[in-house]
Amino acid sequence: MEYMLKVKELNNSMFLKAYILTFGCQQNEADSEKLSGMAEAMGYEIVDKPDDADLIVVNTCAIREHAEQKALSTVGQFKHLKNKKPGLVIAVCGCMVAQEHRQNDIKFRYPYVNFIFGTTALHRFPELLYKNLTEKKRLYHNEEAARTIAEGIPIKRNNGYKAWVSVMYGCNNFCSYCIVPYVRGRERSRRPEDICAEVKELVDNGYKDITLLGQNVNSYGKDADFDCDFADLLDKLASFEGDYTLHFMTSHPKDASRKLIDVMAKHERIAKHFHLPMQSGSDEVLRRMNRRYDTEKYYGIVEYIREKMPECVITSDIIVGFPGETEEDFEETLNMLKKVGFDMLYSFIYSPRKGTPAAEMEDQIPREIQNARFDRLLETQNAIALEKNLPMVGKTVRVLCDGESKTNSETYSGRTEGNKIVFFDGECSDKGKYVNIKIDRAEAFALYGKKIK
Ligand code: 5AD
Ligand code: SF4
Repeated sequence: MEYMLKVKELNNSMFLKAYILTFGCQQNEADSEKLSGMAEAMGYEIVDKPDDADLIVVNTCAIREHAEQKALSTVGQFKHLKNKKPGLVIAVCGCMVAQEHRQNDIKFRYPYVNFIFGTTALHRFPELLYKNLTEKKRLYHNEEAARTIAEGIPIKRNNGYKAWVSVMYGCNNFCSYCIVPYVRGRERSRRPEDICAEVKELVDNGYKDITLLGQNVNSYGKDADFDCDFADLLDKLASFEGDYTLHFMTSHPKDASRKLIDVMAKHERIAKHFHLPMQSGSDEVLRRMNRRYDTEKYYGIVEYIREKMPECVITSDIIVGFPGETEEDFEETLNMLKKVGFDMLYSFIYSPRKGTPAAEMEDQIPREIQNARFDRLLETQNAIALEKNLPMVGKTVRVLCDGESKTNSETYSGRTEGNKIVFFDGECSDKGKYVNIKIDRAEAFALYGKKIK
């Protein structure tokens, strides 16, 4: 806080502009809203183009190789801006630069980057900026995950009716393919009273859609000295006055509890949507992924969700081509997709991450096989998604309107509580409001309908 004032004084009411670019997941989006909040408090106007910015912050992702390459090439493109405006400050933060080898890449291959900081040092952004501006030195900051959580960072939200709220940071699970525990540190849960205050304020300010974030929300509270697990937290958060919907992600199947499902079923304000990453339908692959559940346990959770909430949308993440995945393993995944009937799937080709156990495993799967399996997975899932959506025809669903569709300005789009996209004949004033849509057509990835006046 102290440094925010110092930078503001230093900038001394010059009209400075900051451009903040985000790669990766919702957690990164949420972190960037804090970067924007801090930048604004330091006197910068947030702009949506890098061209005439005085400060550029690139918030990076490390989950797959492709994400890192995109971030690096973007940082590369900013070199010409720095040449044009030598006073431009460029900072790189987030998961990618929490890894030592990537810090070295920036240090040696991108000498015009002024400073970098890892995810656990987000709150130190003003301090690093101040030191860079005053000492004119390049700074590399990546601290070991602190146990404390910085509360009270200003947030500049990008959306006036949908908000992210982090409930915890970090991950302790060490799935063998995943870089997250290395770059985001150990689990740290925010205090329930701080989360309640943030959510209450959002609801009071008219926010309709609030997504609670954590790498594994089901372990909320396990690291803490207070007695409140995720189900208790959700129960409290769903009890405020107001017309709003709570979502949450992500849940690890190894500790998705019946208590949580019961709380979801009890509250209308909790979206009937469960994102439950399965990763693979083969018990042997799950074992080598260090997921600590098998398909039987997974299916048991699905059955309980369907028993308590028959309409609940269930979505999942799948990785294809994990080291050692045989044709039989892959077919077991396809069979599980059919057995569960996911409404939607986020599918990924396995990407080796330096420093994770899976990257060292023998029998890495060749790219052509990975690609072919990926295509088969999509084909199987498309048919399932269509089968899931067809019965929606003729039904009326409540949709939160996002305004004009990005692809067709003559239609409007919105999301159901299960996050399905719906296109309809809306009007300007619908944006940010709930509207009722009668569905008249369904595809695998979208629903179409007319507004009920
Ligand atoms: N390769 C491919 N996909 C990955 N994911 C995590 N790590 C990797 C990796 N190394 C996927 C998982 C996770 C989602 C967020 O990203 O499916 O649930
Ligand atoms: Fe990665 Fe597993 Fe943690 Fe999810 S639970 S962030 S996949 S290590």
